[in-house]
Amino acid sequence: MAEKNYPRHVAIIMDGNGRWAKRKHLPRAMGHRQGGEAVRRAVQAAETLELECLTLYAFSSENWKREESEISDLMGLMRRFIEANLKDMIERGVRLKLIGDYKAFAPDIVTKLEDALERTKDGTRTLAVALNYGSQQELARAAGLAALEGEVTPETIEKHLYTADLPPLDLLIRTSGEVRLSNFLLWQAAYAEMLFVDVLWPDFGEDHLREACEEFARRERRYGGR
Ligand code: FPP
Repeated sequence: MAEKNYPRHVAIIMDGNGRWAKRKHLPRAMGHRQGGEAVRRAVQAAETLELECLTLYAFSSENWKREESEISDLMGLMRRFIEANLKDMIERGVRLKLIGDYKAFAPDIVTKLEDALERTKDGTRTLAVALNYGSQQELARAAGLAALEGEVTPETIEKHLYTADLPPLDLLIRTSGEVRLSNFLLWQAAYAEMLFVDVLWPDFGEDHLREACEEFARRERRYGGR
């Protein structure tokens, strides 16, 4: 049953893997691994809550500044995530969508990602994953493409955003208690509700997503009107 006034499109800045690991005196890689489990839970919860689209910030264009070993841990996680979850995504009707310049990743990951895009293309719900994504870069690219076509307006920019085929963003969540957007969906967040939750990403589960949707349903959106 569709819940009344639940968001159609929720995006999450998954923050706090490192702090989760530190609190438990574990290596950062363990935090990311548990973060990967939280991704799996969130995708399932999105299905239970009947969200049309869940967008996750998995790797920002600024994340290349992290230590090589951490980048390599994250890439390994990405490979394993696709291998372990692709079949399930196809069966559950989840369409993978990528936002960002994912082609900068290692060729074997790009191949896996493109295979997953192809094999999930008939899915009816969307999991959008931001990979090598930066919102300012996305906007500069979209404005450039719009200019090439002759006219730069909000509509022509929007048409060239990676998210052009997704429903409007309703709710943006950031975990871990940090209160900033970190170059994520700046344009798309113009009228989105925002929620900053004090839970580290590896601890985030279905109940947190449900509570966030309920909080969204309680808020009144006016889109600049009265
Ligand atoms: C933030 O934690 C998280 C990331 C930079 C990466 C997010 C990646 C995952 C959750 C796992 C992989 C994703 C997929 C789709 C398989 P942080 O390291 O910035 O935490 P900290 O601020 O506590 O150090």
